[in-house]
Amino acid sequence: MGEPYSKAETLALRRKYIGPSCKVFFAKDPLKIVRAQGQYMFDENGEKYLDCINNVAHVGHCHPHVIKAATKQMELLNTNSRFLHDNLVQYAQRLTATLPEKLSVCYFVNSGSEANDLALRLARQYRGHQDVITLDHAYHGHVTSLIDISPYKFHQLEKDSKKEFVHVAPCPDIYRGKYREDHPDPASAYAEEVKKIIEEAQKNGRKIAAFIAESMQSCGGQVIPPVGYFQKVAEHVHAAGGIFIADEVQVGFGRVGKHFWAFQLQGEDFVPDIVTMGKPIGNGHPMSCVVTTREIAEAFGASGLEYFNTFGGNPVSCAIGLAVLEIIEKEDLQGNATRVGNYLLELLTEQKQKHPLVGDIRGVGLFVGVDLVKDQQKRTPATAEALHLIYKLKEHQILLSADGPHRNVLKFKPPMCFTREDAKYVVDKIDVLLTEMEAATGRKTANDASTKAECKRKTNEENSQAESTNESISHINGAACRQENGFCSDKRSLPSNRIQT
Ligand SMILES: Cc1ncc(COP(=O)(O)O)c(C=O)c1O
Repeated sequence: MGEPYSKAETLALRRKYIGPSCKVFFAKDPLKIVRAQGQYMFDENGEKYLDCINNVAHVGHCHPHVIKAATKQMELLNTNSRFLHDNLVQYAQRLTATLPEKLSVCYFVNSGSEANDLALRLARQYRGHQDVITLDHAYHGHVTSLIDISPYKFHQLEKDSKKEFVHVAPCPDIYRGKYREDHPDPASAYAEEVKKIIEEAQKNGRKIAAFIAESMQSCGGQVIPPVGYFQKVAEHVHAAGGIFIADEVQVGFGRVGKHFWAFQLQGEDFVPDIVTMGKPIGNGHPMSCVVTTREIAEAFGASGLEYFNTFGGNPVSCAIGLAVLEIIEKEDLQGNATRVGNYLLELLTEQKQKHPLVGDIRGVGLFVGVDLVKDQQKRTPATAEALHLIYKLKEHQILLSADGPHRNVLKFKPPMCFTREDAKYVVDKIDVLLTEMEAATGRKTANDASTKAECKRKTNEENSQAESTNESISHINGAACRQENGFCSDKRSLPSNRIQT
């Protein structure tokens, strides 16, 4: 069936009727996508794109089991949660079974922003405190309460847009942050910063309601906090009467492979007080959830206000949520995230050895970042180069994005059905493009015999280390200084607003 409009007409109508701050990917030549399946998207001409960025289509675009569950329930009933329905309680039971025991009470909502906004209400009601500690470069949602605690956004506004009840702690990034991989204990050092913020706030008579952080920072540049950081932060925050909110909107539901939740990478001794969920939870259906402890939920209820949400927890959403959980388990998507994620890291690490533009490779499961640098030693972000690379990849029908405070970090977060072949295909293309970019700017791509040997992969897949089901957290940092230079001038114009996915 043909589309109602040509691509040019769609674009013109969009410009006419849709708010100008709603951006498109690849603004210079946006894609018109008309269907998708698994890890592939198809444009109006039937051209196929490999999707390396869509963590919303978690179990694969248009998964037949999700579609069936949704349509089956839509044929029967969809209504609000003021009526008793088994889907709601069944789903709550299944979802909380993936979490540590004390996280046992659910509130179903409709978007990541709604989830985080409700989490703030719960936190503030709990002890009557108001202040929030957030991490630098964090993004937690588009509603007013969350723009306030999202430095990723409010830093783009005029100066002094930070509210007095918001406190920004340094991002625990051991590649470009304040304490790096050579620090003896970056987890404690970064947690100490939070403690100092609390002390300073208390001196000014302020009270901490919550510390909020993504379990791994995504828009902030694919940052994996050092192990032990969350435990130490939680200790300081609890001592101040606040609670710990783990935002799993981007990174939850088994993306990290070995664990279902990314906060579990910190160790079994860490349990947040609230977990917020979104994006992958409904495989594209708008739904989300806040899970908390009985104690916090009781305190929220004690206000006497009913919590009502017209669409949250409706039978269709819950049927979809259940189907997503079933697929993750049945198709061993966590195992796939580990195997393919390890292989992807292995391939990218080879690229790091070869290309001076690759500063750091970090990731776990199917959450991987490639930090591009103009100078290995100074770690100068290669922003224009990253932008150039993602546009070039698009020409090769590969969808990847660049993000982080400098927009120089290539962000991998594909649907969880991503394969080894997909990983090899995209990394081979990155290799060719980086080689071309380095040749164009006189940077030296390592191509001597020894490096080649080092880069040569085992072809016997059974022998491959990547087959290991062990969790692998990679954080391989830039070492040797190579040549300085920039592929494009820093003055090259960049999109003024970032796009979250
Ligand atoms: C970490 C994080 N939290 C919350 C949100 C907000 O989710 P939504 O866009 O569904 O409101 C986003 C969206 O990008 C996000 O990345």
